Amino acid sequence: MTKPSILVLFLISNLLCIANGFVISIDDTKVFSRQSALFGTRENREITTLADPKIENILMVECGFGNDSHGQNATKAAKRACRNAIEFNSLSIKRMVPGGYEAMKLNVILAVPKIYQDTLEVEEVAKTFPYGDINFVVQDGGMIAPSGRVIESLGDKNDDMLIVCAAVQVGY
Ligand SMILES: *[C@@H]1O[C@H](CO)[C@@H](O)[C@H](O)[C@H]1NC(C)=O
Ligand SMILES: *[C@@H]1O[C@H](CO)[C@@H](O)[C@H](O)[C@H]1NC(C)=O
Repeated sequence: MTKPSILVLFLISNLLCIANGFVISIDDTKVFSRQSALFGTRENREITTLADPKIENILMVECGFGNDSHGQNATKAAKRACRNAIEFNSLSIKRMVPGGYEAMKLNVILAVPKIYQDTLEVEEVAKTFPYGDINFVVQDGGMIAPSGRVIESLGDKNDDMLIVCAAVQVGY
């Protein structure tokens, strides 16, 4: 898909939502990217499609899930999912990736319940990762389960418990 046609889709999409001037909605699949130097300046963002091979050489894929039991905040659940995916690993990036940390790429695929995708701030989720150029792909998924309790002091608007799944591709 050419970039102009993506832009047209972007404009007409009825799922259009903008958070932090950063969220792009393309039909049911939202794609975000952060092209950055080490530790991520927030420059040069790109619109990409799922078909774009974001990482030519995928070394590993780490999977995780995270919840937000109270408050219906997909950002919180997504951060936990990403942490869950990466937290038990120690990678020798300098040995694995030609060019080391500066050449490392991450493609973070998140499955988020559709009705809560507007609460997802990918800038915030990006902070979970200390290194690498990050691209985000957000698709419908995850899970909503009733917690059985509405605790207003924790931000609950209802008893939906949000579960987000993450697959983190690491490569270069
Ligand atoms: C689930 O939510 C609770 C807080 O409500 C949190 O302490 C826990 O870490 C979460 N678990 C996961 C796997 O995200
Ligand atoms: C959702 O959680 C994120 C990360 O904890 C936080 O930065 C954000 O302010 C929360 N949003 C709301 C509406 O509470």
